[in-house]
Amino acid sequence: MSDELRFDGRVAVITGAGRGVGREYALLLAARGATVVVNDLGCASDGTGASPGPADEVVAEITAAGGTALANGNDMTTADGCAGLIAAAQEAFGRVDILIHNAGYVFGDFDALLDIHVRAAHRLTEAAWPIMTGQGYGRILLTSSGAGLYGSGLMPFYGAAKMAVFGLARCLSDKAAGTGIKVNLIGPCAATRLVTELPKSDPMDWVIAKADPALIAPAAAYLVHEDCPVTGEMLSVGAGRVARNFVAETHGYLNPDLTLEDVRDHFGEVVAEDGYHVPADMNELVDVFMKIVGP
Ligand SMILES: NC(=O)c1ccc[n+]([C@@H]2O[C@H](COP(=O)([O-])OP(=O)(O)OC[C@H]3O[C@@H](n4cnc5c(N)ncnc54)[C@H](O)[C@@H]3O)[C@@H](O)[C@H]2O)c1
Repeated sequence: MSDELRFDGRVAVITGAGRGVGREYALLLAARGATVVVNDLGCASDGTGASPGPADEVVAEITAAGGTALANGNDMTTADGCAGLIAAAQEAFGRVDILIHNAGYVFGDFDALLDIHVRAAHRLTEAAWPIMTGQGYGRILLTSSGAGLYGSGLMPFYGAAKMAVFGLARCLSDKAAGTGIKVNLIGPCAATRLVTELPKSDPMDWVIAKADPALIAPAAAYLVHEDCPVTGEMLSVGAGRVARNFVAETHGYLNPDLTLEDVRDHFGEVVAEDGYHVPADMNELVDVFMKIVGP
């Protein structure tokens, strides 16, 4: 197919690629020509334990299909594990074009969740940054979640960590201006063990029945492709649906002599969703204020 999107010559590092949606990312990118470093600790769904099995199996599957892949069992909750993963990719293949930080789990103490979601995202991007800026090219995809964006009383630490990842990606995207690096986010909805091990509920039963993890990979692959048209964006993906998440601000109510009662009396205007603004960064937020409030 002449218009097929391909990754020939690209080196992709994917964390948590031994199972679930990460495995699907690895298989799709490899099938489209990327060399893939398949990282997975092979741990239980609470982050404990380790096994080389999942990463080795994905690498075997890729190589059996004619692709190129390298297994890596580093623990993404450690600084050495993150730096060592990027170094191993650079040493083996001489470049790092794509970094997808996908490894993760839902339950654990707050620090453990900050380690796997937030600190790992920071450590991995920090290690990949000089390589990517040196190449003048990079695609970074971090993994957030509706649990953070919209909230879930079942998993407050996880939600907080995933929202921190959102903020990190937005800031890195801004910092990357002019470097050839794009940083985006994905929020998957997929029937993996992460979902099957949650308390049973109607929404989770629906996800388990309908949301094939393989259906996340096309959107993730587009966000890390050379042709990706955006940076600082997040896609919500599941069961074949791809949508955009964005942070917006309502037009709001303005009164230069604002009082407590004004806020009460005009609360409908404060929260009204028509005519909202979607600032691309913090400076654009100030632009919104300047336009509405005046110079
Ligand atoms: N499945 C969903 O609906 C859903 C929803 C929102 C967000 N997510 C996110 O998507 C990502 C992938 O989750 P999944 O659903 O495929 O789960 P999964 O459990 O199937 O896969 C996660 C993989 O990450 C690996 N891993 C965990 N800790 C690791 C570590 N310290 N170092 C290296 N590898 C490690 C695990 O061994 C596992 O193979 C996670 O970040 C998760 O939070 C998933």
